[in-house]
Amino acid sequence: QPGVLHKFKETLFSTLSSEELLNSLDSFHAREDDVFLVSYPKSGKVYFNHISSLLCFNGCQENIPNAEITLTSPIELGDVSKFEELKMCCKRRVIPTHLSYNMLPVDIKQKQCKIIYIVRNPKDTAVSLFHYYRDNPNLPGVETWAAFLELFLKGNVVYGSWFDHILSWEDHKNDKNILFIFYEEMKKDLSKSIKKITTFLGINVSESEINHIAWKSSFKEMKNNAAKENCDPHKTICALTSNKNLVFRKGAVGDWINYFTSKQKRVFDELFTEKMKHSELMITIWYFDEM
Ligand code: A3P
Repeated sequence: QPGVLHKFKETLFSTLSSEELLNSLDSFHAREDDVFLVSYPKSGKVYFNHISSLLCFNGCQENIPNAEITLTSPIELGDVSKFEELKMCCKRRVIPTHLSYNMLPVDIKQKQCKIIYIVRNPKDTAVSLFHYYRDNPNLPGVETWAAFLELFLKGNVVYGSWFDHILSWEDHKNDKNILFIFYEEMKKDLSKSIKKITTFLGINVSESEINHIAWKSSFKEMKNNAAKENCDPHKTICALTSNKNLVFRKGAVGDWINYFTSKQKRVFDELFTEKMKHSELMITIWYFDEM
């Protein structure tokens, strides 16, 4: 479909993010208690957001019992009226985004707001994004997996190159206000990941609440609930669709093996090794890739 993506500063964005909004990101006023949930598309954002909202509503933050929190729509979704809308929010804001570090509004960096970055192994991310391109009317159509993989490797996909995205964030991995969380770790031991998040956010949640949240966040439970929900385009937490049903596909680690030919794997691994050669995250991601 023509016109579903547009280029802004060399990166492809959905037309759901207006050029004016992207141009005015640096005029965004952050609050010191804002929390940002950052990811490259298809890394498990909805999974993670769901956990965060359950945590925020169940827990008490920094010893402020029953402090109220709102999970807003993504900062880059919509037009310039976005910042007015966010300004109206009188509760503590939890704001999702797919922006790279370079594009993140400068005030968020200056105020050192808490940021959680979610990483998923790039082969599964590519397969997941391939299906999203096929199923989501807000993304261009794509004929074959081979054609899509080529676009992915060149970074000619929505939000640009996976490599550039993660590398832009990795430079800030050790900043005290930034936490990295892995999709694969969440799948393996969700309660453990939840504990990391609560410690980072300063939220007190009991062991039994954590286990309950982990149960409510299983793929099956979330998929079933999404099927029952009505879509409200004003309440979307995803920058590319308000239809949550499009998000729950397989929810597995290692599904890439069903798509990559051995040649495609070799080409991918060569590029991965080259692009990630200075990355400390490379080993962890590599390990999750082979799991
Ligand atoms: P798959 O397409 O591999 O199934 P995002 O939310 O960033 O768009 O990411 C979507 C991916 O997260 C999809 O991957 C989706 O199935 C997976 N996902 C969503 N909820 C999940 C859950 N509760 N457990 C595991 N994976 C989940």
